[in-house]
Amino acid sequence: MSPAELNGLDLPQHIAIIMDGNGRWAQQRGLPRLQGHYEGRKATPRVVEACVNWKIPFLSVYAFSVENWRRPLEEVEGVLDLIAAAMEEELDDLLQNDVRLVASGRLGELPEEFQEVIARVQRRTAANQGLVLNLIINYGGRAEIVDAARRFAQRVQAGELSPDALTEQTFQEYLYTPGLPDPDLVIRPGGEQRLSNFLLWETAYSELVYQDVLWPDYDEEHLLEAIREYSHRQRRFGAVTDTDAGDG
Ligand code: IPE
Ligand code: IPE
Ligand code: MG
Repeated sequence: MSPAELNGLDLPQHIAIIMDGNGRWAQQRGLPRLQGHYEGRKATPRVVEACVNWKIPFLSVYAFSVENWRRPLEEVEGVLDLIAAAMEEELDDLLQNDVRLVASGRLGELPEEFQEVIARVQRRTAANQGLVLNLIINYGGRAEIVDAARRFAQRVQAGELSPDALTEQTFQEYLYTPGLPDPDLVIRPGGEQRLSNFLLWETAYSELVYQDVLWPDYDEEHLLEAIREYSHRQRRFGAVTDTDAGDG
């Protein structure tokens, strides 16, 4: 059910979330950082469900960056195990909610078992028609651009394409998840105001909303607040709008 507050709002078609603040949530309570990741894991289905109910077509969630390997091995392994387990645990709900899972990142560098879990959940949900849930994992925005450029260059080297074939439009076909529209709204809870290498190409004209809540505490109300903020923004994409063009 959509809340009445959503009526008449210009809803984002694609919401992307930097799920941040798990470690601080735990530290504030004197708990190990991994405990924060366990709590943060529970916030994700709350947001997925809200997007399903509100008929948002695309949701991207940043779960692990290529830079996150710099953390202690225990935390890295704990987080990756947690995400793999969560995907298995959530599969029934994804199927019930008609959610299709896709994944973006350097997936080939993840542990073999992890890749298998992603492939299995993708396969099982492939025919679903509702929300597209994009799990962004082992991802870096610069890595994505470099990987895309390399794949394009390989085709040029193979004699399949000319360098002139590269345009902003065709470049998108080499990104990790072609066909996904650019995010309209990027939300970063946790209090930091930076992108941390998130979707650098795709966020060229995204609206950014920063929220002070830590990810484990994030719920439907916070998402609604971010959407309300988004709906008051005036997007121009470099042009002038009717209001700008008026007298004055
Ligand atoms: C985000 O929470 C989850 C991952 C990056 C894996 P953090 O672990 O970055 O939490 P803080 O920012 O340290 O609080
Ligand atoms: C971004 O958060 C990555 C994810 C949420 C997965 P970080 O916690 O890694 O970002 P920095 O280090 O504070 O910039
Ligand atoms: Mg962080």
